[in-house]
Amino acid sequence: MKFTINGGKKLQGEVQLTGAKNAATKMMIASLLTEEPCILKNFPQIGDTEIVAELCQLIGAQLEYGDHELKIHTPVIKQTEVMSLSRRNRIPILAIGPLLARAGEAEVPILGGDKIGPRPVNLHVNALKALGAEITVTKDSYKAVAKDGLKGASIDLQFPSVGATENIIFAAVLAKGETTINNAAIEPEIIDLIKMLQNMGAVIDLGANRTIKITGVEKLKGVTHSIIPDRNEAVSFACLAVATDGDILVKDARQNDLSTFLDALKKIGGGYEIVDEGIRFYKEKELSSIEIETGPHPKFMTDWQQPFTVLLTQAQGNSIIHETIYEDRFGYTNDLNQMGADIKTSSECLGGLDCRFNSKGFSHSITVHGPTPLKAINTQVRDLRSGMVNIISALIAEGTSLISGIEEIDRGYEKIDERLQGLGAEIDRLR
Ligand code: EPU
Repeated sequence: MKFTINGGKKLQGEVQLTGAKNAATKMMIASLLTEEPCILKNFPQIGDTEIVAELCQLIGAQLEYGDHELKIHTPVIKQTEVMSLSRRNRIPILAIGPLLARAGEAEVPILGGDKIGPRPVNLHVNALKALGAEITVTKDSYKAVAKDGLKGASIDLQFPSVGATENIIFAAVLAKGETTINNAAIEPEIIDLIKMLQNMGAVIDLGANRTIKITGVEKLKGVTHSIIPDRNEAVSFACLAVATDGDILVKDARQNDLSTFLDALKKIGGGYEIVDEGIRFYKEKELSSIEIETGPHPKFMTDWQQPFTVLLTQAQGNSIIHETIYEDRFGYTNDLNQMGADIKTSSECLGGLDCRFNSKGFSHSITVHGPTPLKAINTQVRDLRSGMVNIISALIAEGTSLISGIEEIDRGYEKIDERLQGLGAEIDRLR
C-alpha cells in the first residue's frame, strides 16, 4: 500500500492519542501469566498488536475485541512453541517467562537485526539463564526449559534495555524468591506494565537508581487495565503542528512523559500549552538549531529523533543529533537529503559525551544545516519511525509525494491517514 501526499497545508484541529504500542504489546504478554481474563482498555488497533494477537492465540489465548478494548484470556497453555507465526516483530522472546512459569518450556523464533541495527538479545538470554532457565540456541529458535520453575537472582544489566528489563520482570514475577534488576530501564511504558502486574497480584518495588526488586508470588489474577497514551504518537503530532506552522491539540498527551521533548521543542522555537484535555502544539517563532543526544528515559528518546530531524531541516543554523541507543538509525536522512535537506552523518560522537558506539565506525551522529526548502519525491518506508519522517516531510514539501511500504507505519500508528485528514492534510491511501 502507498500514501500520496500533497504538501503545503497547515495542520490544525484536535487529534486523540491511542494507547501506547510499546505498552499494549507487552501487556498482552503479561496476560499470559494468569489463567484468568484480562481486559485492556485504550487498546490500539495497529499492526503490531495484530502480530502479538497471533502469538497469544497460538499459545492458547482467546481474544475478544471491543471499541479500543481487548479481553484476553488464556485458561490453558495449548502450545509452548510459536515458530509458525506468519508475521514477526520483537515480542515473542518476551513470552518465554510466562511459558516457563505455566508450562516449564518455550520455543520462540530468533529475530535477526533490522533496518535500525543488529538488535541482539544477549541481555535477555543471559538474564533468563541467571534465573535458572536452560537455553538452547538453534539455527532459528531459542528453546528454554525450566521444569522446576525459575529462581530469583540479582541481575546487572550492562545497558538499561527496555526489552531485557521486561523479560526479567515477566520471568521473575512467578519465580521463587527475590529478583533484583540493577540498571533497569524505567520508560513510562515499563512503569505502566509494572502497575498492571501489581494489580494482578505481583510484588514489584521500583527503587532509586534504576533498581527494580521483584518478589515472586505463587499465582497472578486477572485485571482490567487502561493503557497509557502513546507518547511517540504525541511527539509525531507535535512535530507535525510545528513543521506545518499549524496548531494541534493532542488529546491525552501527558507532560510527565514528554518533558525532555517539550524542552527541546521550546528551545528551537516550538510552542506548547498544557490544557485539561492534553497539550496544544504550535510554532512560536522562526526555528533555530539545537544539539540533542538520545538516551534511555528520562533522556530524549530514540523514537523521537526522526520527526524532530524534519523540524531541524527548517531551523536556522547547524543542529546536531547524537544517537546513543541504536547504531544505525539515520538511514532516513538519505530521503531528506534527496528532498533538498543538508544532513551529514558521522561515526563520531558529535556534540557531547562519548557513547558505547564511539570509534566503532557506526554512523550514529548527524549535523543538520538549515533551513532548506523540501521538494516532494517518491520514498519507500524503512521502519516505523522513519515512516513518520516520510509523512511529515511530504506534508511540508512542495508538490506531491508517493510513499510506498506504509504497512510499516500501520504497525504503530492507528489509521494515521484518517487522523491526518481530520487535521486538514491532503493524504490518500492507495491499495
Ligand atoms: N541491546 C543489546 N542486547 C540486548 C538488548 C538490547 O545489545 O539483549 C541493545 C539494542 O541492540 C539497542 C539497545 O540495547 O541498541 C536498546 O535496546 P532495548 O532493548 O532498550 O530496546 P527494545 O526493547 O528492543 C524498545 C522499543 C523500541 C524503542 C526502544 C528504546 C518495543 C517493542 N520497542 O525496543 O521501539 O526504540 O525500546 O526505547 O518496545 C519503536 O517503537 O519504533 C521502537 C523501535
